[in-house]
Amino acid sequence: MKHLTKVADLSDADIERIFKLAVGFEAVLERKMKKVPALAGRTVAFLFVEPSTRTRVSFELAARRLSADTVTLSAGASSLKKGETLEDTAYTLAAMRVDAVVIRHPHEGAADALARLGLFSVINGGDGKHEHPTQALLDAYCALKHFGSLEGTRVAIVGDVLHSRVARSGAQLWKRLGATVAFVAPPTMLPERPAGPDPIFHSLDDLLAEWGGECGILYFLRIQRERLEEPCLPSLAEYRAFFALTKERLARLPESTRIMHPGPVNVGVELDREAVRDARSLIDEQVRCGLAVRMAVLADTIAGEGGDVEVPA
Ligand code: NCD
Repeated sequence: MKHLTKVADLSDADIERIFKLAVGFEAVLERKMKKVPALAGRTVAFLFVEPSTRTRVSFELAARRLSADTVTLSAGASSLKKGETLEDTAYTLAAMRVDAVVIRHPHEGAADALARLGLFSVINGGDGKHEHPTQALLDAYCALKHFGSLEGTRVAIVGDVLHSRVARSGAQLWKRLGATVAFVAPPTMLPERPAGPDPIFHSLDDLLAEWGGECGILYFLRIQRERLEEPCLPSLAEYRAFFALTKERLARLPESTRIMHPGPVNVGVELDREAVRDARSLIDEQVRCGLAVRMAVLADTIAGEGGDVEVPA
């Protein structure tokens, strides 16, 4: 797999290979010596044209754990700000013999445009409202560790589905792996014609009344406060009343349901502190798995089909 810009890029064999590599890398990350030479001598550039902390840090650490050299270009402090186009930046990086670029960009399709130039491997770290494939992979990997298989697992994605690249990539991958996906959102935060026959609920209470103990995963999206000015969100108080996992709802949540969130959490908006720290929450585990999965994606795209990579026993 040379590029990873969207979930549709992944074949079943790709997914299997990446998850297998991630298992090996997870073990590496538990050692005192948390590094392997898989990408020694290779260079990974991080092109972050939109703010990010956890995705950027996770990718940077992943590349370093694989012994790659890394360079970071952020929007505020690079020539992108001086009017250089993405394409010009790409040719400059290629002239410096960069092997891969991890890009986060506010425009949908930016990662695909970069990949089409054919200059280096491109990994999408989030492009506008479009896709965030490594988030989907790490979430699925993390859930698989807990459920063994996702065949028949019920996953409810709660929040602003319409504007969420996490929801778009996630829903595709959950379904590919056999899960049933429902959306829990106000009508203004759903696509006009939500794809397929996926069930839709307009409150968390309705979902829990219908699914109860059958609900395997409650996957919360971040409420993007930047959208408060748009007409899709009446007020945070109203949103909380219908869609937040409050302390009170947490007390009624089935024991077997797991709570997930891509971060950063707006504590007190979509999740109360108690829900983040609850024993049913996989949020820290998602971050832990994320590093191993991103190591696997970098190794596979740069070193080639897992072949060159020696996964330590
Ligand atoms: C998400 C993103 O930026 O797309 N966060 C992340 O990558 N961890 C979700 C979000 O910011 O809402």
